[in-house]
Amino acid sequence: MRLFVAVNFAERTRARLLALRDELESRSARGNFSLPENLHLTLAFLGGCDAEQDAMTRAILGGMIFRPFDVTIDRIGRFRRDGGDLWWAGVAESKALAEVQRTITNQLASAGMLADRRKFSPHVTLGREVVTNAMPWPIGAFSETVSRLDLMKSERIGGRLTYTVIYSKEGSG
Ligand code: 2AM
Repeated sequence: MRLFVAVNFAERTRARLLALRDELESRSARGNFSLPENLHLTLAFLGGCDAEQDAMTRAILGGMIFRPFDVTIDRIGRFRRDGGDLWWAGVAESKALAEVQRTITNQLASAGMLADRRKFSPHVTLGREVVTNAMPWPIGAFSETVSRLDLMKSERIGGRLTYTVIYSKEGSG
């Protein structure tokens, strides 16, 4: 199973992200735009895992102690890709978010579970393989206080990319 650790947002933030996604779609010739329920912020990507790695990841997340922290979305951007860019909503720099992300990835890496460790560039993917003449446009920033981290399973069900929360850890304080 393909696993990753993510922040899932409350309804109000999701609606804001969806509006950005819809605006991107309206400015694009084509693209594969994220399903509303798939809009999330990935903190760590584990890739293919077996049952033992799944259990280890739950134990690591379960042991995490963190205070709820603010996440602010403040811009639109894109990663250049052949065949169409990946467009995202970008997260403002945050020490608290970086600290939580670093703690998780360090622990996963110590347990030998992070094969591919990219530099963390916090973003919410709005669309893939996007073809557009548009440039990233300015947006009004919006924020949410995040108090839960989710372990997610990624799979294709009937050709549809489906993410399921399989374990959650609440922050406190
Ligand atoms: P993306 O949206 O930028 O592609 C499930 O695939 C989640 O894990 C997505 O948020 C995806 O980011 C992220 N992801 C996939 N491969 C990754 C990798 N090698 N490193 C970090 N994140 C990855």
